Amino acid sequence: MTPRKILVTAALPYANGEIHLGHLLEYIQTDIWVRFQKMMGNKCHFVCADDAHGTPIMLKADELGISAEKLIADVSKRHQEDFKEFYIDFSQYHSTHSPENKAILTSIYNKLNAAGFIKKRIISQAFDPEKKMFLPDRFIQGDCPKCAAKEQYGDNCEVCGATYSPTELKNAKSAISGATPITKNSEHYFFDLPQFETQLKKWTQSGHLQDEISNKLAEWFEQGLQQWDISRDMPYFGFQIPGAADKYFYVWLDAPIGYMASFKKLCERENIDFDEYFSKDTKTELYHFIGKDIVYFHALFWPAMLMGADYRTPNAIFAHGFLTVNGQKMSKSRGTFIQAKTYLESLNPEYLRYYYAYKLSDKINDIDLNFEDFKQRVNSDLVGKVVNIASRSAGFIVKKFDKTLSAYAIEGDLYNQFVAKSEVIAKHYEARQYSRAMREIMQLADQANQYIDEQKPWQLIKQDGNEAKVHDVASLAINLFRVLMTYLKPVLPEMAKQVEQFLQVDLNWQDLKHPLTKHKINKFKPLMLRIEDEQIEQVISASKSSIQPNENTKEDDNMIQIDDFTKIDLRVAKIVKAQAVDGADKLLQLTLDIGEPENRNVFAGIKSHYKPEDLEGQLTVMVANLAPRKMQFGISEGMVLAAGDGKSLHILAPDSGAKAGMKIS
Ligand code: MSP
Ligand code: ZN
Repeated sequence: MTPRKILVTAALPYANGEIHLGHLLEYIQTDIWVRFQKMMGNKCHFVCADDAHGTPIMLKADELGISAEKLIADVSKRHQEDFKEFYIDFSQYHSTHSPENKAILTSIYNKLNAAGFIKKRIISQAFDPEKKMFLPDRFIQGDCPKCAAKEQYGDNCEVCGATYSPTELKNAKSAISGATPITKNSEHYFFDLPQFETQLKKWTQSGHLQDEISNKLAEWFEQGLQQWDISRDMPYFGFQIPGAADKYFYVWLDAPIGYMASFKKLCERENIDFDEYFSKDTKTELYHFIGKDIVYFHALFWPAMLMGADYRTPNAIFAHGFLTVNGQKMSKSRGTFIQAKTYLESLNPEYLRYYYAYKLSDKINDIDLNFEDFKQRVNSDLVGKVVNIASRSAGFIVKKFDKTLSAYAIEGDLYNQFVAKSEVIAKHYEARQYSRAMREIMQLADQANQYIDEQKPWQLIKQDGNEAKVHDVASLAINLFRVLMTYLKPVLPEMAKQVEQFLQVDLNWQDLKHPLTKHKINKFKPLMLRIEDEQIEQVISASKSSIQPNENTKEDDNMIQIDDFTKIDLRVAKIVKAQAVDGADKLLQLTLDIGEPENRNVFAGIKSHYKPEDLEGQLTVMVANLAPRKMQFGISEGMVLAAGDGKSLHILAPDSGAKAGMKIS
C-alpha cells in the first residue's frame, strides 16, 4: 500500500494565557493520532501555531505595559516549552502573526472579494470615548435592564438569565476605562455565508463530521445562516484589510488560515509541495482536531472560506468534549484549574497521556479527570501490569543467561495471540477509540502476568534442571512486553524510548511478527514510578496559590451561576406516607407526591427528629432531579431539604397555600 499523505492540525491556543490540562486533552489526543499514523508508515505532518491576534491580546499587552509583539513572543515560548514537556511532537509550531499568514490571508481575502463574497454595510456599536475604541460585548458592563443586578457583562444577565442587547444595559460602563460608552456607526465587512448554504448543507451531511455535530448543524441551518462580520476597527492587534484605512481582519478570519501558514512554513523548511496538499483535486488528507466550543468556525466558516477561495476542504473535523476535574468545571479556587507547568512540577507527563488515552473516544462528551481514578488507573495499569511484566522477568535474563533471550521465545501460541491483536488495536487508534485500544492492551497485559504467575519462574529456578524452561518463560515474557510497549508507543513515547534502550531494538508495528530470539538486551531500569497522593495534593495546592489577585473572580467556582442553580428541580412535595425502615436507625422511608403520576420513594435521615405519623400529610421541599441512588434498603429517588445545626433538624415547608408539585424558583 502506498503511504497516505496526511496533514493534521490542533486548534491554535490563544497567545494571552498559559496552557492548562484542558488544552492538553486536545494536544495529547492529536499527538497520539499523529504518532500512530507515523508508526503505520504514513506520511503525517502535524502543524499548530499561537493564535496571536484580537482585542484580549491587545489589552493584555497594554495591561502589562509591553508591546503585543513582545507578549506573543513570550507566550509562544512558554507554550512551546509545555508542549515539548508533554511530548507533543509538532512538525511545525508557528504564529498567526507571521508573514506567511499575512500573505495567505490577503490572497484568500482578495479571491473572496473578487468572487463577490464580501459585503459592506454600516453598523452601530458601543464605543468607548476615552479609550477611543469599539467595545466587544464582553467589555461592556452595567445593570441588568430587567432585574437591575449590578455589574453584568455583555448581552445576558447572570442573575436573572435575561438576554438583551448590550446597549440596553443601565448605567453602562466600559470595562476597560470605566467611561460611559456612546453609540457610534462604522462600516463593517461581512463574509456572505448564506451564498454557501447549498454547498455547506451538502458538505456537513456527507461524512466529514461526527453525527452529533451534523445534527447540531442541521438545527443551525434551520435558523438560517447569517453574514459573518469579519472586520474590526482600530485600535486592534491584527492584519489590516487591504484598501481600507484603519480596519483590521477579525481574529477568527486569520486564525484557521494560520493552519495553512504554519504548514507553508514547514513546506519551505522541508521542501514539501504546499499545493499538493491544498489544491482542489488533492489526494492528500486534511484533519482538524478541535474542541466542541469552536465547531461553528470549523464546520461552517472555514469550509466556506476554502470553497470560496478555490481550495480543498478538510476530510474531517474531529471534535472532542471538555475536560472536567473531579466531576466539575476546572476551578481556580478548588485548585483544579491546573496549568501544564504546575502539573509538571510534581507529576510525570506520561501519566496524563495514558489517562487521557484511557478515557478518550471519538465522541464529543466531556472527559472527567478524577484524581483518585487517575492515580489508581496509572498505578494499576502502567506500573502494576505493564512494567511489572518486564521487571519480574528481566532479572533472570540478565543474571542467569548473559542478557540473552532464548532461541525459542514462542511457547504455545501466546505470542501469536498478542500479535493477532495488532489489527484491532490499530483500527481503534485510527478511529480515535483510544479507550478501546487501551482496554485491549491491558487485557493482554493481564494475560502476560497470568502466564508468569502460572509458570512461577522464581520457583522453577530453585530446582535443578529447569534452567532452559526458566530461560524460555522469561524470554517469552520479555517478548510479550515488547509487543505491549509497541502498541503503547503512540501514547507513551518517552517510556517506549527507554524500552528501546532496554531491549536494544526499535519498537515498530511491522516487526512484531518476529519475536526477539537469541537477542541481547540491557539491564532493566525502573521505567515508571507509582503516583503518590502527596504529588496530587501538591499539584492542587500549587494551583490554588497560582491564582493572581487581579484575576477575574467571576470564574471562581465557589460561586455558582444562575444556570447551575436552575439545573436543580425543586418541588413542593406532599408526604403521603412515612415509615420506619427495618434495620436502619436513622432513616425514614417517605412516599412523596410531587404532582407526577408516580409517587417518589425517598430515604431521609430524619428518624431521630420526627415520628412518622406526624409527617404524613405535611408539605415539604424536595430535589426532584437528583439521580436515583441505590441504598441498602432500596432506591432513593430524590432528596428532602432540611435545616439543622447538628443537634436539631427541621424539614423545610412552604408557606400555606402551596400545593404538591409546585416548582420552586
Ligand atoms: N484560538 C482559538 C482556536 C483557533 S483555531 C483556528 C481557541 N483557543 S483556546 O486557547 O481557547 O483553545 C484551544 C483549544 O483547546 C480549543 O480546541 C479548545 O476547545 C480547547 N480547550 C480549551 N479548554 C478546554 C477544556 N477545558 N477542555 C478541553 N478542551 C479545551 O479556541
Ligand atoms: Zn437580570
